[in-house]
Amino acid sequence: MEKFYVTTPIYYVNDVPHIGHAYTTVAADIVARFNRLLGRKVFFLTGTDEHGQKVQKAAEERGLSPKEHADKMVLNFKALWQKLNISNDAFIRTTDTEHKRVVQEILQRLYDKGEIVKRPYQGWYCTPDERFWTEKELVEGRCPECGRPVEQIEEENYFFLMSKYQDKLIKHIEEHPDYILPETRRNEVLGFLRSRPLGDLCISRPKKRLSWGIPLPFDEDYVTYVWFDALVNYYSATKYLAPEKETLQWWPAEHHIVGKDILTTHAVYWSTMLMALEMPLPGNIFAHGWWTVEGRKMSKSLGNVVDPEDVINRYGVDAFRYFLFREVPFGLDGDFSEKAIIGRINSDLANDLGNLLNRTMSMLHRYMDAVVPEPAETEEEAKALAEQILGKLKEHLSKLAFQKALDEIWRLIDYLNKYIDTNQPWRLAKEPQSRGRLSTVLYTCLEGLRFIGLYIFPFMPETGEKIYSALGYRVLEGRLDELAKWGHLRHGIKLTKPEPLFPRITQTEKKQDPPIQDKEKTLETSQKLIGIEEFARVELKVAKVIDAERIKGSKKLIRLVVDVGEKRQIVAGIGTAYTPEELVGKSVVVVTNLKPAKLMGVDSQGMLLAAGDGENIVVISPEKDIPVGTRVK
Ligand code: MSP
Repeated sequence: MEKFYVTTPIYYVNDVPHIGHAYTTVAADIVARFNRLLGRKVFFLTGTDEHGQKVQKAAEERGLSPKEHADKMVLNFKALWQKLNISNDAFIRTTDTEHKRVVQEILQRLYDKGEIVKRPYQGWYCTPDERFWTEKELVEGRCPECGRPVEQIEEENYFFLMSKYQDKLIKHIEEHPDYILPETRRNEVLGFLRSRPLGDLCISRPKKRLSWGIPLPFDEDYVTYVWFDALVNYYSATKYLAPEKETLQWWPAEHHIVGKDILTTHAVYWSTMLMALEMPLPGNIFAHGWWTVEGRKMSKSLGNVVDPEDVINRYGVDAFRYFLFREVPFGLDGDFSEKAIIGRINSDLANDLGNLLNRTMSMLHRYMDAVVPEPAETEEEAKALAEQILGKLKEHLSKLAFQKALDEIWRLIDYLNKYIDTNQPWRLAKEPQSRGRLSTVLYTCLEGLRFIGLYIFPFMPETGEKIYSALGYRVLEGRLDELAKWGHLRHGIKLTKPEPLFPRITQTEKKQDPPIQDKEKTLETSQKLIGIEEFARVELKVAKVIDAERIKGSKKLIRLVVDVGEKRQIVAGIGTAYTPEELVGKSVVVVTNLKPAKLMGVDSQGMLLAAGDGENIVVISPEKDIPVGTRVK
């Protein structure tokens, strides 16, 4: 049996999932479901990228260890995938022991083969951001991210000798036109590879600068660069998470689906790593475009990050899945707006698809007493169209051309709507001599709908099943090739009238707030509601600030000494909104039974209550004078 292995990027756990994460994951889900329908053995992998600077920093800001932080954040992804009806076969976390073992094995193998060497490394280093920049990346000689001065650092590091695979990689891309898709991206990668020498890849970080990573097996003073660790997930998962892993050879993957921003790491780093390991390369790396929101770049600071959960609650999971893949060709950038999604729902889903099912079922009830009629003849045109679409779907979906695949399905929907208008079953029903014709027309519509349910299922699983159950089936049973044959629908069965698939959305129903991510929503979804007894476990007390100073190298963090009946040192991230001077003498509220944490090396024994973020932080202060140490309840 043919196997089919598809992956999404593994997502950083420094943030909560947004529409961009949902996009790639649904794309992989569609092809996974389609290939399962074709009868292939499918391995659909997604997961989380949990090591490295970004995660370590996010954890520090929350006063948690990186692993504790990751354990919490991972739940957000898992909950969203459930809500989005994602059918992944496994979920990899780079902190899994088995994954770490495979990464170390690979590092050792490359080191033993002389593909990894130790060398001095020189670069411009931004201490607060803890990262290197190249001369070219600097902006007016300063850190391009925070604008602070950088210093030249020289240190020893391990390098993967990527440069020697440059020609081999060019050749591979040239000889495999589908290796990188879409074609524009393929040309970009080729252009870049042909125009300049490829460097070697620094794959280590000294532990003294970054501890949150997989230790190098051959040098305990270093951890592995997060991208090297992350890319290996695609292979390591086949060893411990894949179905029937003992007998099935899952590697190489058929598709790695990624966003355009991480194409180089996949097309260049990963491909050359595999070459050095003498392992086969994946069949395809597909780089999709980015979503903007109402014409603007999506960003936390603009506060316009689209929350997929919110969109689903508002418009339903299938409408959201459909919108993502109908609105723009996979590979190009798209713009999310409520107007656009409502437009799609009303025209394509309510009007075209929903109406087709609705009017067909109404007529069946009215004219045939709800019983599927036996057709007097086969409508060859409808049959040919319905059956041909399967070939088109195979062709388009093998290249992840989702929009084209949906266009094909809609050709059948449009055809059937017109077919009803032309054949006017309501007139046939009035003529006793046209009973046979009426049976043919209604059977054709119902059988056509069965094809639609079948074809639409990978895109909109709930809708596909609703259509199928409206036609008297329980689930999609069997293989697509057999099911996509005209005449499968059984006659003589009485059907019940289904609920409308997609009710129209009127502008007045539209909620006012856009589906934007709540900035504070960084905690796991499963812990949204707590009982009073849980709240009572949090000890909040009134305190007075005795001393305050900025923590060196941090814009945000301030070290406070507070009196809560006893003296405590607390680190608070309020430095963008307050100066230390204005804090001294202030009455505040402090969580006093929090586990101690270290933030930028400074101990924190508690947490200050504040609302907002960035420059809009406001410290919570008791409204009237009240003695320090008083409990807040
Ligand atoms: N951890 C790495 C991937 C390692 S894979 C071995 C990573 N993670 S990420 O969480 O930052 O990003 C994951 C994906 O989200 C990327 O494919 C990226 O392109 C995608 N998107 C982030 N913002 C996006 C949009 N606005 N629109 C569409 N996709 C976007 O990178």
